[in-house]
Amino acid sequence: MSKLATIVLAAGKSTRIKSSKSKLLHEIAGEKVITTLSKTLKKLQPDQVVYVVSHQKNKIITEVSHVFNDFDRVDQGEPKGTAHAVKKGLEKLVKFRGDILILAGDVPFLSLSILEKLITRHHLNNSIFSLLSFEPENPHGYGRIIRKNNKAVGIIEQKELKEEDNKIKECNGGIYLIQAQWLRTAIDKIENKNKKQEFYLTDLIYEVPSDSEITIIKTPSEELLGLNTRTHFAQGEKIRKQQLTKKFMDAGVGFINPDEVYLETEVEIGKDTIIEKDVALRGNTVIGKNCRISQGSIISDSIIEDGALIKPYSVIEDSVIGNKAQIGPFSHLRPETVVGNKAKIGNFVETKKTRLGEGVKASHLSYLGDAVIGENSNIGAGTITCNYDGTNKFVTTLGKEVFVGSDSQLIAPVTVGDNAYIGSGTTVMKDVPANTLVVNPKQQKNIAEWNQDD
Ligand code: UD1
Ligand code: MG
Repeated sequence: MSKLATIVLAAGKSTRIKSSKSKLLHEIAGEKVITTLSKTLKKLQPDQVVYVVSHQKNKIITEVSHVFNDFDRVDQGEPKGTAHAVKKGLEKLVKFRGDILILAGDVPFLSLSILEKLITRHHLNNSIFSLLSFEPENPHGYGRIIRKNNKAVGIIEQKELKEEDNKIKECNGGIYLIQAQWLRTAIDKIENKNKKQEFYLTDLIYEVPSDSEITIIKTPSEELLGLNTRTHFAQGEKIRKQQLTKKFMDAGVGFINPDEVYLETEVEIGKDTIIEKDVALRGNTVIGKNCRISQGSIISDSIIEDGALIKPYSVIEDSVIGNKAQIGPFSHLRPETVVGNKAKIGNFVETKKTRLGEGVKASHLSYLGDAVIGENSNIGAGTITCNYDGTNKFVTTLGKEVFVGSDSQLIAPVTVGDNAYIGSGTTVMKDVPANTLVVNPKQQKNIAEWNQDD
């Protein structure tokens, strides 16, 4: 088997996306474009990997180094076109013998299987130059494949396209497999005599000897979406979402409407879980089996254990929700919240850095911040942990089976023992021992005939 090196073209200026950031650092489904591409490339296990960089090179290199421990990089300097980029990449492959897979950095959805097919067919046909083509719904902006008697004889870039060529549907995917020795000499022949005055890699096609078969693999169009504009990025989100929801549905996850959810790449979901409409699952979120995530909920970087019910419009960030717990509707669980098994957090309850034991109930309108709440405690409506004195944060600790009456405040730092009972409307200013009733006595005065007209 011949050796495989790869050159990833990642130096372009990203003009068409009209962003201060390289398009390869933009995200689709929560993952940077360069990362998605690099992860697929890694699965191919190439012998050598070269990234050609320039614009925002340090940031791109950092992202790549999260995927590859060992890779080469070349600075293209002023980007003068894709052929110029490849020529720079070849500086790291001077002695390499075998085939070179060239990937445009902005084509991230290609599958491992299509790359494997390209390699297999390239060898079968004994080709020196092979590529992937596709037929997008809107070919505008892509290079078109020119065929004569069905044989590919040219690639014409959008800017150079003549009126009559506009009807050509077959486009160049920007992914090539090329024999290294041939590439090293052919690349020197490319000139920049075109409207953009760029060195087009696509011009290599004119250097291929007529007796050598050019292998072209027709590829599903969603795999070769090239991300040049904001419109392409919106299409990319759609494609990625379809891939992710399909993967989950095939594994037994239910979606009420898979078109109306937002899922990020690293998310995991267990079988028999149902995801309702307008749900967003972000970051490293892991959802267990038999859960229900109701409409409008937004969950980031959190673990939701088996059987949990997230009721509508809840926001959960960097938290852990135990088995069969119930959250919402309209709960806001801020980072470092841990909700025990079978606990219930109700509407308009906000938590932060708070651990609620098994079976705890906080059903309505509370702020629970920097608190530890023992199992089976009940937090009444309107309870507030006063955790902040304007300078520092303090912890409120409640034992097991504590009953906190409605409209109470706990001024931290404060500890309440097991089984204590806090009367409604109490401001707890100092520690409460176990099994104690605590109240701030207030007298009720009824003033008669207050509102009567003479
Ligand atoms: C390129 C192809 C086009 C194809 C399309 C597929 C050329 C001339 N055209 O066009 O036929 O249909 O991809 O998506 O190759 N880059 C560099 N250095 C440069 C220029 C570009 O590293 O000097 C990188 C870019 O960062 C990008 C990739 O190469 O990742 C492709 O460049 P881009 O400008 O997007 O090319 P397209 O116009 O899309
Ligand atoms: Mg492009």
